[in-house]
Amino acid sequence: MAYTGLTPALLLLALSALIYRVLQIGKRDPRMPKGPPTLPVIGNIHQIPSTGLFRQFRQWAKEYGSIFSLKVGPSNIIVLCDRKAIHKLLQLDEKHFRVQEAEATVLMTNLLDRPEDFFQEIQRYTASVVSSINYGFRAKTHDSFWGTWTECMEPGANPPVDDVPLLKYIPSSFAFWKRRAIDAGKTMDGTWGKARRLAEERRARGDRRVCIIDSLLDEYEKKGWPASITQHSFTNLMGEIVEGGADTTSAQLLTLILAFALYPEVQRKARKEIDEVCGTERAPLWSDFDRLPYLNCIIKEGMRWRPVAVTALPHRVRQDDEYEGMLIPKDSTVFIPTWAIHHTDAIYEDSEKFNPDRYLNHPKLANDYAGSPDWANRDKCDADNPKHHYNYGAGRRICPGIHLAERNMWRIAAKLLWAFEFSEPVDPVTRKVSHLDPDAYNPGILQAPLPFKVGIKVRSEKHVEIIRKEQDEALDFLKQYD
Ligand code: HEM
Repeated sequence: MAYTGLTPALLLLALSALIYRVLQIGKRDPRMPKGPPTLPVIGNIHQIPSTGLFRQFRQWAKEYGSIFSLKVGPSNIIVLCDRKAIHKLLQLDEKHFRVQEAEATVLMTNLLDRPEDFFQEIQRYTASVVSSINYGFRAKTHDSFWGTWTECMEPGANPPVDDVPLLKYIPSSFAFWKRRAIDAGKTMDGTWGKARRLAEERRARGDRRVCIIDSLLDEYEKKGWPASITQHSFTNLMGEIVEGGADTTSAQLLTLILAFALYPEVQRKARKEIDEVCGTERAPLWSDFDRLPYLNCIIKEGMRWRPVAVTALPHRVRQDDEYEGMLIPKDSTVFIPTWAIHHTDAIYEDSEKFNPDRYLNHPKLANDYAGSPDWANRDKCDADNPKHHYNYGAGRRICPGIHLAERNMWRIAAKLLWAFEFSEPVDPVTRKVSHLDPDAYNPGILQAPLPFKVGIKVRSEKHVEIIRKEQDEALDFLKQYD
């Protein structure tokens, strides 16, 4: 084959392109935060001290600003010496808050239009938030797939198969609980499998969304499927997040509505606080949290008064342990009897009363108390400072949804109290009040109020106007999860 004159030119071009590419390594993208000057290929490697990097960070922050960047060869390092940036960039809430805010607005509009459906609407709201965040699909209506699928996990009393393994060998034809467990397994596989399939089909159409399943599947596509997780367990993990998040939170919100109707003085006190901050100009937002401390007390008291997880979830001891001279043998099942602790008068005075005032000295979120290794400060054992609650469990398996749940409940309670007045229902014929039963809850390890009726009255036309105004923007935002 004859050489042409172009070949050396092409080679030169290719070589120049290669050199150019190599020289780009270590160079900072001008859109990134500023930082110390880089050298080709190595970036800032030569400036990174072998010891005392933490001090050098302070020095660079002084020179380049509180958010700066470093290049280590082709890799990027962003250093946040800025508290606001740490909050904004690394907190779960900031990624998901718009879903919660927008769904909360939709909930308010639906309550204006159909107050009698409040029970299902609260369930739709919590299911929709968690399925949008997890699967990228929202529950537009209560009876849609994403709105009702959590019912497949209805808890029931089963024999202690883990403790008495022989029970496993009883044929299912003699063991109703075994048949029920098999059926429950099939329902879960069916529902969770369908949820995964819908997400996969959406992705196959090129529709990738800001949600947990997409970010994990994107990562696995790039790096390969992790050896430690089977397809089935991944499908179940995704399903469990929604199971864990939807009905628990809706049960607590429905408990709050029940308590509002039973304790009008709590509503009055909360409304006074909210009105001073928001007036009728706007509904409360999460950014009002510090200025609405009584509202935070209401959430905590609802969690104490009627904990959805009445015995938390049982834990198992992995090795013999000892506590104050008592043996706790390996393989024991350990319960945190949440309801029992919360209803011990010696710990919570007049424990059957819904009294948010008992939390006036607990201004932070539950995760700030529950995560504390200092049990005495978590609980503050003196009369002026009653104890925090145990509704999220405790220890290393404590509820991972605690941050999301706290914000969901606060947002909804704030908006509900701002816009509506709740009362025990009045019989339309006799005009007599039908008293609500504060103990009408379903049995099981997760307890929610049984369906009940409640009087819901919007506070003024101005409130209606604001709710309607906020609706269009919310629906527009939520289109991405339709
Ligand atoms: C008011 C709302 C909630 C309550 C009261 C609650 C309560 C609990 C409790 C008591 C546990 C067992 C903890 C233990 O074993 O000590 C738990 C576990 C769990 N929760 Fe929640 N939860 C709520 C909301 C959520 C949300 C919003 C999500 C997810 C988005 C979620 C996801 C989970 C998961 C995945 C587990 C299992 C964790 C594990 O086994 O390691 N929960 N929750």
